[in-house]
Amino acid sequence: MIDTPDNDTTATPDHDDATRRYYETGDVDAFYDAVWGGEDIHVGIYAEGDEPVAEASHRTVEHAADKVADLLGPHATVLDLGSGYGGSARALAARFGCRVAALDLSEAHNRRHRAANARRGLDGLIEVVTGSLNDLPYETGRFDVVWSLEVLCHVEDREGALSEAVRVLRPGGALVFSDIMAPGEPPAEAVRPAFARLGVRTPATPDFYLRQLSELGLKGADFEDRTADLATHYARLDEDVHRRAAELRDRISPAYVDDLLANLPLWTDVTRRGLLRWGLFHARRSAV
Ligand SMILES: C[S@@+](CC[C@H](N)C(=O)[O-])C[C@H]1O[C@@H](n2cnc3c(N)ncnc32)[C@H](O)[C@@H]1O
Repeated sequence: MIDTPDNDTTATPDHDDATRRYYETGDVDAFYDAVWGGEDIHVGIYAEGDEPVAEASHRTVEHAADKVADLLGPHATVLDLGSGYGGSARALAARFGCRVAALDLSEAHNRRHRAANARRGLDGLIEVVTGSLNDLPYETGRFDVVWSLEVLCHVEDREGALSEAVRVLRPGGALVFSDIMAPGEPPAEAVRPAFARLGVRTPATPDFYLRQLSELGLKGADFEDRTADLATHYARLDEDVHRRAAELRDRISPAYVDDLLANLPLWTDVTRRGLLRWGLFHARRSAV
């Protein structure tokens, strides 16, 4: 349905290969499936401190969608960068009837994404493409909204990825994304062990993104700081893994469950110490 000159990008930098290997590891996939809910893989927005991770994660999608709802409807096309299991793409297509081009590095995620779209009867609206944020196989000005939840932390060339995202946005279109960041540069040494599990070398900062958005000519760039939700999210993940450790050891290797039990509390700790930031960015291309 969506016109793409190339449906598969094979030449990706080494870091993309490392990211793909991380997400395609059986234990990692089983963790995202069993503990995050298998639909969304991003930080949740919590109405209650003890609500399920999957419910809060879905609220993040609805909250981000509210920011761009005026641009969306059956006439519109969204590009979801780093679409993962496809939770955002399905929510947007179901809520607005819009078309979604969903691009992700991982063919394993993409297979699972396509299967879920077909089960939900949304495969006519969503096209899933294998590729990298740094080399988008789309023509300039193609999309009404470019969307990306929790992906840019994995990207080495963030300037390049943002510039590509803006290139494919139509005049008047909106860019909305979230990321886990450090408050300033350089990041505190204490955050490195937390990020190590994800293969993230250096987090960005909110100022970096706001500067980039302005340099790329976007208007009204806004950062909604929701760092408190990051602390709640990792505390909830930690509680879940502790409570379900015995059951999880049947689905995930015991060594990986032990790694999680060591790693997840680090996130809560460094977030509560003010060493991380999380939130949503929203900016628009001027209409002319
Ligand atoms: C934390 S998950 C987020 C998935 C999805 N956005 C969501 O919110 O559920 C990160 C996703 O980004 C993808 N990814 C990471 N780096 C990428 C890149 N350079 N190009 C395309 N996808 C990438 C990964 O394969 C993974 O599916």
